[in-house]
Amino acid sequence: MEKVNFQINAKQYSTAKEEKPLLWYLRDDAKLKGTKFGCGKGLCGACTVKVNGEAVRSCQTMLSELSGAKVETIESLGDNHPLFVAWKKYNVPQCGYCQPGQIMSASALLDKNKRPTSEQVSEHMSGNICRCGTYQRISNAIQNAGVNS
Ligand code: FES
Ligand code: FES
Repeated sequence: MEKVNFQINAKQYSTAKEEKPLLWYLRDDAKLKGTKFGCGKGLCGACTVKVNGEAVRSCQTMLSELSGAKVETIESLGDNHPLFVAWKKYNVPQCGYCQPGQIMSASALLDKNKRPTSEQVSEHMSGNICRCGTYQRISNAIQNAGVNS
């Protein structure tokens, strides 16, 4: 079968070019379990990673689309990353399940705009669902991380 080559967190990977969701490759093959399965339908954002700098739903992104791509997961962020520091400062998580996806969406936003307004944060983050309702703390933490990055 034809192969597809791409990077995950700056490490090179090569696998069969197939219609398999990136989410399952990350979790089952690359053993990067930080990316979560929520709905599997592109509706919740729990599986969000960055591909070439854009926040994407890894449950809806097929390996066949990733030729030459740069994938970044929650594991790519160091412990002292401004987003982690702000997440702790604002005590954001409750159950925590949605948070890797929230943080990767936030990371894609701050890559482009380090001083987003609360409206811009809401608009960008609107596809990331939190059943625990941590939205206000997420927004505060994103704005704080932007100032400190
Ligand atoms: S698991 Fe991918 S959007 Fe919900
Ligand atoms: S912290 Fe529980 S779903 Fe978001």
